[in-house]
Amino acid sequence: MKDQWYKNAIAYSLDVETFMDSDGNGIGDFQGLTHCLDHLAGLGITCLWLLPFYPSPNRDNGYDVMDYYNVDPRLGTLGDFVEFMYQARERGIRVMVDLVVNHTSNQHPWSQAAGADKNSKYRDYYVWTDKLPEHEVEPVFPDVERSVWEYDETSQAYYLHHFYKEQPDLNIANPAVQEEIYKIMGFWLELGVSGFRIDAAPFLITGIGIEGADEKCLQNFLSHMREFLSSRSIDAILLAEANVTPDKFSVYFGDGDRMDMLFNFLLNRHMFLALARQQAAPLIDGLKSIPKIPQIGQWLNFVRNHDELDLSGLASEELEEVFAAFAPEENMRSFGRGIRRRLPPMLEGNCHRIELTYSLMFSLPGTPMLRYGDEIGMGDDLSLEGRESVRTLMQWSDEPNGGFSTSPEKNLAKPTISQGNYGYTHVNVATEQRDPNSLMNWMERLIRIRKQCPEFGRGEWQILETDEPCVFAHCCEWQGRAAIAVHNLADRECIATIKTKKYKHLIELFCDRQYEPIEGELFSIPLSAYGYRWFRVNTMR
Ligand code: GLC
Repeated sequence: MKDQWYKNAIAYSLDVETFMDSDGNGIGDFQGLTHCLDHLAGLGITCLWLLPFYPSPNRDNGYDVMDYYNVDPRLGTLGDFVEFMYQARERGIRVMVDLVVNHTSNQHPWSQAAGADKNSKYRDYYVWTDKLPEHEVEPVFPDVERSVWEYDETSQAYYLHHFYKEQPDLNIANPAVQEEIYKIMGFWLELGVSGFRIDAAPFLITGIGIEGADEKCLQNFLSHMREFLSSRSIDAILLAEANVTPDKFSVYFGDGDRMDMLFNFLLNRHMFLALARQQAAPLIDGLKSIPKIPQIGQWLNFVRNHDELDLSGLASEELEEVFAAFAPEENMRSFGRGIRRRLPPMLEGNCHRIELTYSLMFSLPGTPMLRYGDEIGMGDDLSLEGRESVRTLMQWSDEPNGGFSTSPEKNLAKPTISQGNYGYTHVNVATEQRDPNSLMNWMERLIRIRKQCPEFGRGEWQILETDEPCVFAHCCEWQGRAAIAVHNLADRECIATIKTKKYKHLIELFCDRQYEPIEGELFSIPLSAYGYRWFRVNTMR
């Protein structure tokens, strides 16, 4: 049986371009990242997800690939990549890479050849139509693109693009395209990666504009990808970005023969609704609405990613509540469905509430994921356009450019945050490393304790009823052991009584402050405002 390492991994996502610049040209690179691996190992990270680092015109932050078999020369060479892989492995850190194959860049040679000549073998690598369909689907970036079809003057036909028009969609129904995708996977597997994040998975398997496309057949491609992966690697995995409704989850997990992991977008938005309301009910509803998944499957939980916080599954009143709490100004929102802020500013820098949120996310059933900068409480820059607000440079020290680069500021790949509460002079790795009470040292402890609680990653979960609506309490059991986590989402202290007689003897593992030990049969659990407590229980006794 496959080793299920991913079920208790501590994942961390980063963009090489914004992490660390080794040669002073203002652009992060693989050598810089390699120098910083000890920081990640020290935190306890076990798996990195690298955002696209392939040659790209960068219309969409690298999600527009020009060459699947190389490293963008701005970020280094394949040699640097291999050295990085070696150093990561030495530290017990696995690496996953983005597989962006719903579309290519329009600068990719396939796209260029397809546009230039209707008889090219690459023509059918993309999706074309002579006539616009009557009913159009909405583009993903409605503020920039009006349609998913773009007219190509040279070949006098429309091509499909769900994202920017510079990102033509590949025709996944074409067996030649499928073969290309296997080849790309095979290449990076040979270089040692432990799996792929399948970008834009739902778009990949829609048959829009593909004549005679059979939905089931396209979905089967997910099984074929998995078969290919298993034929080349014993334990590599597929992680899908699929922000879909629960009735569609089975498309991605299959019978345990498709994706190994899915990002838990559903729980993410329910968590934010629960935080906004200071009530556990939305989180409980969210968890309960997730159907059982195959044994091999897993959820990847996160607080924020590199895009907007996508609230699109919430009802419109719920969306308004989250907006009112965490994005009161129009400029903090995007596409009418999301929030383009990092967590600390959303929570007005309240460190108790920030810790509560990460403690909660780390204890939710699944695997936890951080994003670069989460560990030090980095902020955002709303003066930047769209999603760029949350993609500023990693803050390493209080030196110029936050220690990211020695280049003149004007050459930096992206801006750094130098002013205000989140400026690098005080929010940075070096300063927080020295401060025993920093968020970073707290995060390291959180990770250490989470590793001691594999129940949260692998166990059967159960909501524990309490008499306090603001308290979310749950228990995960695995192999005769159990862990309980209790979180107070409200800004007032309380005593939550857990109505269960099943568990005896709670041992405190992790909490926001020193509490008296819990005694007795009926558990009355005092909690500070935004307090949290994790316990180990012995179900046998
Ligand atoms: C995914 C990425 C996003 C990108 C899109 C198109 O949603 O997270 O950043 O724009 O795919 O590749």
